[in-house]
Amino acid sequence: MTAFPLEHVVESQQFDRDLLETVFRTADRMKADLAGKRSLAKSLDGKIMASLFYESSTRTRFSFESAMLRLGGSVITTENAREFSSAAKGESLSDSIRIMNGYADVIVMRHNEAGSAVRAAEVSAIPVINAGDGAGQHPTQALLDMYTIVDAFQRLENLKIAMVGDLRYGRTVRSLSYLLTKYANVELIFVSPQVCKMEKDIKDYLEKNNVPWREESDLSLVAPEVDCIYMTRIQKERFHSVDDYQAAASKYILSLDCVETMKKDAIIMHPLPRVDEIPKEVDSDPRARYFEQAQNGLYIRMALLYLLLQKN
Ligand code: CP
Repeated sequence: MTAFPLEHVVESQQFDRDLLETVFRTADRMKADLAGKRSLAKSLDGKIMASLFYESSTRTRFSFESAMLRLGGSVITTENAREFSSAAKGESLSDSIRIMNGYADVIVMRHNEAGSAVRAAEVSAIPVINAGDGAGQHPTQALLDMYTIVDAFQRLENLKIAMVGDLRYGRTVRSLSYLLTKYANVELIFVSPQVCKMEKDIKDYLEKNNVPWREESDLSLVAPEVDCIYMTRIQKERFHSVDDYQAAASKYILSLDCVETMKKDAIIMHPLPRVDEIPKEVDSDPRARYFEQAQNGLYIRMALLYLLLQKN
């Protein structure tokens, strides 16, 4: 296998199509390994992953930790670093990262500030993986999202995708938008409350990369025309105004009636957690892929850890 060229994984723009292909094929190998068909077991024996989470998480933290353990490595962790690391005593992020360099071989970090992963990587001699930085990016989520899409359609070209919900503060839709620009004939439709529209920097990037996009307000009109509806939660914790949050909350709900108007081979995705934007009765529709999507996070994160640490 060609050497993996990335030192850190901090933003989606680091990935080109070749690199995406490498990650997806490695994830396939991990999936096959876990199904008992191949053996990559214990390939990270002796390596230590530090998971440093300043914000809450279920999927990202546990799938990274499971990935490391399944590869034979070990994990040191703090689940609420804002309270239980020395950040609570005023330690800077850069000092914490420099210290963790002496204790671990890779740092997986979730932080509340956009740009924090890039800052951490700048002072780290060991790989830093961005597990979500505020309203900035969530590149490993975008990788598993792309892996889920390619699994469903066997392609990443010629797709019309609706992104719905909190597009302003949503790091997952931001990271996914960057990756989708790598593929031909992808079209994006943004459906969001007025107070959380997709930011200009992403729209500019799409235009620069010739990806058509438009904004719509009626999800029921968009649903029948798309290949994928990517729902997101309205993130109460990111709003600066209660009025803005209340204007956005529960505005877009993907009802079963709406799902029934979708193409038969379309898919429904969601990075999770959800609140009320996808009712539970949608879960049994064959187009609902969000639990499988979360499961894919394990294979993608095993692949990333393997690719980053095998060369060290
Ligand atoms: N999708 C995602 O990042 O989920 P968690 O917040 O549970 O990690």
